[in-house]
Amino acid sequence: MMLAIPAVLSHEEVRAFRQDLRDASWRDGRATAGPVAERVKANQQLADDDPVAAQLGSLILERLARNERFLAGALPLKVLPPRFNRYAGGGVYGDHVDAAVFSVPGSPHRLRSDLSATLFLSEPDDYDGGELVIDGEFGPTCIKLPAGHMALYSARTVHRVTTVTRGERLAAFFWIESMVRETERREMLLELDDAIRALRVDTPDHPSVVRLTGLYHNLLRSWSQT
Ligand code: NI
Repeated sequence: MMLAIPAVLSHEEVRAFRQDLRDASWRDGRATAGPVAERVKANQQLADDDPVAAQLGSLILERLARNERFLAGALPLKVLPPRFNRYAGGGVYGDHVDAAVFSVPGSPHRLRSDLSATLFLSEPDDYDGGELVIDGEFGPTCIKLPAGHMALYSARTVHRVTTVTRGERLAAFFWIESMVRETERREMLLELDDAIRALRVDTPDHPSVVRLTGLYHNLLRSWSQT
């Protein structure tokens, strides 16, 4: 599953984000990588308790809580507070997999990573390289979205960020535990949801709209963990 979610943040918001991130306390990104990933990781990150990260992260969570596409695609149960990274001057993150379980900072809770999210904060023209590449059944998918747009993809994948050879690439990244753990079920629910939305526009009074909506909710009821 790969979903592009447009305009999570407005142009003004991403511009303000970049301003705030410019003077933030960047650290070596290897601090949060496991022994396999640290060998291929060369970027910078903000510490989890960095006040800039906390402030910008909560604004992202606020926007996502009202984003219909995100809610329909992720069916989120828990969202890890967003982290921030920066790739510049040869920064790269080679092939790796994301951890399956994350501790929620400042709490005794843990989160299972069903979905990974990358929210692009730099405009694509402002840097070369820096593509998010996700390996899939039909080969690799290269992703480079406009600033403020977000890529949502299965956390089970092998993926990488290609070398940034010009400019800088700023992004927020985080993980989501879904109410529906199985990718295939989540995809079917999104497909059904999309089809019902289209019918509600074209034939809003057809009695099958209510029956299909009932079917969607009954499947969600069977498959969700809350
Ligand atoms: Ni990753």
